[in-house]
Amino acid sequence: MNADGRTRLNQTPEWTALAKHREELADTHLRELFAADPGRAEGYALQVGDLYIDYSKHLVTDETLRLLRELAAATDVFGLRDAMFRGEKINVTENRAVLHTALRAPREAVIEVDGENVVPKVHAVLDKMAGFADRVRSGAWTGHTGKRIKNVINVGIGGSDLGPAMAYEVLRSFTDRALMVRFVSNVDGADLHEATRDLDPAETLFIIASKTFTTIETITNATSARTWLLDALGDEAAVAKHFVALSTNAEKVAEFGIDPDNMFEFWDWVGGRYSYDSAIGLSLMIAIGPGRFREMLDGFRLVDDHFRTAPAEANAPLLLGLLGIWYGNFHDAQSHAVLPYSHYLSRFTAYLQQLDMESNGKYVARDGRQVDWQTGPVVWGTPGTNGQHAYYQLIHQGTKLIPADFIGFAEPVAELSGELKAQHDLLMANFFAQTQALAFGKSAEEVRAEGVPEELVTHKTFQGNRPTTTVLAKELTPSVLGQLIALYEHKVFVQGAVWNIDSFDQWGVELGKVLAKRVEPALTEGAEVPGLDASSKVLVAKYRRMRGR
Ligand code: F6P
Repeated sequence: MNADGRTRLNQTPEWTALAKHREELADTHLRELFAADPGRAEGYALQVGDLYIDYSKHLVTDETLRLLRELAAATDVFGLRDAMFRGEKINVTENRAVLHTALRAPREAVIEVDGENVVPKVHAVLDKMAGFADRVRSGAWTGHTGKRIKNVINVGIGGSDLGPAMAYEVLRSFTDRALMVRFVSNVDGADLHEATRDLDPAETLFIIASKTFTTIETITNATSARTWLLDALGDEAAVAKHFVALSTNAEKVAEFGIDPDNMFEFWDWVGGRYSYDSAIGLSLMIAIGPGRFREMLDGFRLVDDHFRTAPAEANAPLLLGLLGIWYGNFHDAQSHAVLPYSHYLSRFTAYLQQLDMESNGKYVARDGRQVDWQTGPVVWGTPGTNGQHAYYQLIHQGTKLIPADFIGFAEPVAELSGELKAQHDLLMANFFAQTQALAFGKSAEEVRAEGVPEELVTHKTFQGNRPTTTVLAKELTPSVLGQLIALYEHKVFVQGAVWNIDSFDQWGVELGKVLAKRVEPALTEGAEVPGLDASSKVLVAKYRRMRGR
């Protein structure tokens, strides 16, 4: 029994039933499941907004899905979901509400935190962002010397970088191509150097994005950016026209020297990795315009509404979350691949890594006790077809089970024409071929029938039975991006709820931060670092010698 009165997850009858069921299904092949049910392809699919989600190529039966839903019911996933949407403080270790869903709520909605409706504040900031984005886009907002802003650089890290950086790539074909938008996150000076070396400071706007406004990487880069600007423009007053801030911390923003009028606010009930549809999306809004940004928010909301209202049997985030649990907890899968068949989704998986791994990479349950079940998977992947010529070999014939999401679109982006547009069918032929090969493989008999010499038959045989989800949409629009992100946000939520972990804190990143602060003086001044381990001591000494110190 847990301290919170819940039975330990892996001692519940629902868990035991799933473990038993897994044994029973051990020898079942997807080939058999499809042969036994001619309606499986259509029956194991959901349409959510613009997303067609096919989950027929999973190692599940109706019984598996029923047992998984029972686990969700036993762990009260929908109860926690409702508490989240109501604004209850479900982030227990930080005593905070979790209300990224309020960022896309309609103007008339009422969502209260500590007795205050937060929706008017959300829309006031969105309106302020839209006014500013329009001024930058139209040229009405100029730099200190009166030049038009041509370059926008977002300086932030983690949730203050990955979301807008990913979405900017995804929606590149919707952006104002006259504007250069870049993202600087790494404290390695090379990042800022490369982002600024070919730019005119008089035409460059910096957006300093930091929820806390204390993150060392961001503040260091922001300070260097200010030096770069002032070295060129030579007037402190230039900061007001070239720096804006996105933060929850007005005091620190003012301390840095940014005019509070140029600050776009968000709140502690928005987690960093859930924040790119808040003020953190300002760079994106400047790039695509406020109208497109609002279309994206509509897409988020569509999936929020679906998650909030769809019954368990037809609830896509619930289903995808449970499928992940099926593999992670009952098939020993360690990782989950996300494989988009769109060049524009090149940063999508990197974004999901923070969303999923920072949320569910926890070994301590909400009651403070260590879990004795697996939690979040390693999330990885890059766009197809590049991955096919790199690591797909292991997914097809390796010894590890790697469930994968394939995401593709019927239409290429509208900008493509001629031969480049025609290439889309080849891209998508690969998309469909891969999930078929993974699911059904190629039997030894089929290989032999092709005349393959006997000594090569095992090498050329594909077992198949590699599970995949296919997500297909007509085209990649701002709304579809919002739908996809909300789908993953809620999937991660479902898993955290079942595992009984707090998906909204991130204590695991703190120790490294504290140690880095302690080690820095050892590098620069040779200072003694109390508690530095023997290995690190030798490495630090070597580093100092290499730097001639
Ligand atoms: O890496 C930890 C973290 O706190 C993330 O959760 C967050 O997105 C990132 O650092 C950046 O934080 P901030 O927006 O406060 O600069």
